[in-house]
Amino acid sequence: MKIEIRGFIVHKKYLDSAQQQQQLSALRKVISQVPLFCPNTPYDKPMSVKMTSAGRYGWFSDRKGYCYIRRHPSGQNWPDIPESILRVWSKLVDVKKKPDCCLINFYGKDARMGMHQDRDEADFSWPVLSISLGDDCLFRMGNSTRGGSTESLWLQSGDVVLMSGDARLKYHGVDRIRFGSSRLLPKGGRINLTLRVVD
Ligand code: SIN
Ligand code: MN
Repeated sequence: MKIEIRGFIVHKKYLDSAQQQQQLSALRKVISQVPLFCPNTPYDKPMSVKMTSAGRYGWFSDRKGYCYIRRHPSGQNWPDIPESILRVWSKLVDVKKKPDCCLINFYGKDARMGMHQDRDEADFSWPVLSISLGDDCLFRMGNSTRGGSTESLWLQSGDVVLMSGDARLKYHGVDRIRFGSSRLLPKGGRINLTLRVVD
């Protein structure tokens, strides 16, 4: 089922449980090479999500700001984006141009993501594709400028959100997760994958 809210296109239950499991096993391999870390922020407040990346670039944040970096903080190269994840991009976005960053965010019990725009990329005509795995989360969608009215939707494991066109630069965030609502991750929690074309 496909729904559209404020230009955000939400493909509910896009991935079946076998596809989710396949992505999860590929992600476990990635995370064993480039472990999840807790980024700091320009406000000197550590993010509540843990993250790592795959692809040519990894998204990074510290006291100096947000940027894309070529290697994991350990010095390790980012592993390739797993095929099972790239396939979703090819089906929903474009087969000729591949994303060059897959940001992997892990949400534990009390993790959240404040309202923000994705704007560290060179060309906003390329969409951002986001995949949800594991526990449900309350996803909030706003406007092209900060503030104003918002609408929220529970995202579940296997849901895919496409931010393109008007929605590409809209504010969005995650208020909370429903810890333990999915059995995909045996110890609970949520993984969000964000695929982006960086340059
Ligand atoms: C993000 O926009 O950075 C994450 C969105 C999500 O976790 O669904
Ligand atoms: Mn975002």
